Amino acid sequence: MMLEAGEERLVRACQRLPKVELHAHLNGCIRPSLLLELAEERDIVGQLSLSDFKDVILKEDRSLEECFKLFALIHILTTDHGIITRITKEVIEDFASESVVYLELRTTPKHNEKVGMSKRSYVEAVLAGIRATDAAFPLESFFACEEKICASSATMETPNHRCDEKKIGRIHVRLLLSIDRRESVEGAMETVRLAWEMRHLGIVGIDLSGDPCIGDWKTFLPALTWAKEQGFPVALHCAEVPNPTEVEAMLAFRPDRLGHVCFLEDSEWSKLLTSGIPVEVCLTSNIRTNRVQSIEVHHFSALYNANHPVVICTDDPGIFSTTISREYFLIASHFGLKVPELLHLSKKAIDFTFADEKLKKTLLRLFDQAEYVLDCNL
Ligand code: IMP
Ligand code: ZN
Repeated sequence: MMLEAGEERLVRACQRLPKVELHAHLNGCIRPSLLLELAEERDIVGQLSLSDFKDVILKEDRSLEECFKLFALIHILTTDHGIITRITKEVIEDFASESVVYLELRTTPKHNEKVGMSKRSYVEAVLAGIRATDAAFPLESFFACEEKICASSATMETPNHRCDEKKIGRIHVRLLLSIDRRESVEGAMETVRLAWEMRHLGIVGIDLSGDPCIGDWKTFLPALTWAKEQGFPVALHCAEVPNPTEVEAMLAFRPDRLGHVCFLEDSEWSKLLTSGIPVEVCLTSNIRTNRVQSIEVHHFSALYNANHPVVICTDDPGIFSTTISREYFLIASHFGLKVPELLHLSKKAIDFTFADEKLKKTLLRLFDQAEYVLDCNL
């Protein structure tokens, strides 16, 4: 698709803008090229037929049904600790290349006796992937490359602003453990206790996700309440389908963040706005899964205009063929936000992270620098 010059500039700005990603499912971020490689390996040893899946792996514009077919395939192909570590590493590299400076990944710990995988060993494999990644900090592209930026900094004494510095830092990654809605009371509790036990390793909270048409809120409540009692943050997938009883219960629970909130009745909408609970907005995901009819009618606009805390996220960039930069571009082009407003939106999300105060301060400083560079270029 040919872009006009102004659009091209906006695409580039969205790419280079420092960003905070708070809602990304590890296995939903897998590169299609890796999926294809893994499917080919299984095809060779006769474990699956590549021809059944090749089209859906290579396709970009997948239907909802094809997205779920892909999820099923992903879970067949990713049962090996080494592969989990590799996926994690590649996913982090991909987010770093999109100028994400803080990433909260989430994943559902899996156990599979046949391959000697326990929930704990699964999480350790993910953590190994996080440790293995020392991606160059993507802000370098924001700071270092445009002549005008370098010229302006040369005349100003800003010790933090070093245009000649190639590697300014690195992407900061934290992990949430997800409870799948198919899990039992005990399974959910096991995940929460594991997350709490491993919190010193960068696990910063709990997520509730999975097929929204499956499972009963009451099953997960003991585990989620226990997390809350420990002061451990909780994010909930909420109102992905109409379910007023559950939505009421989730709002009453007062989680630290809510994902999606596509189907809220008026009274629930008012409660959400009063609550001030930050919302993780995933535009493309909501459109692809038919939760929202078009971007124009997406509730981002109502939340933003009400000054409600929101953070722009991808959900499953590998499945929905999107990137975090593209999500910012969609926000800008459909709702008219300018680059400084996008930067402000991204900076505000630092408040909604589950990072500790020290890291939040570090991130704030980075965004201050980015604001300064932007000012120099306006
Ligand atoms: P994983 O937890 O790393 O295996 O990431 C994939 C899992 O995330 C899926 O099996 C679902 O449980 C969950 N997930 C991904 N996208 C969605 C969504 O849009 N709604 C609810 N759950 C989701
Ligand atoms: Zn999600």
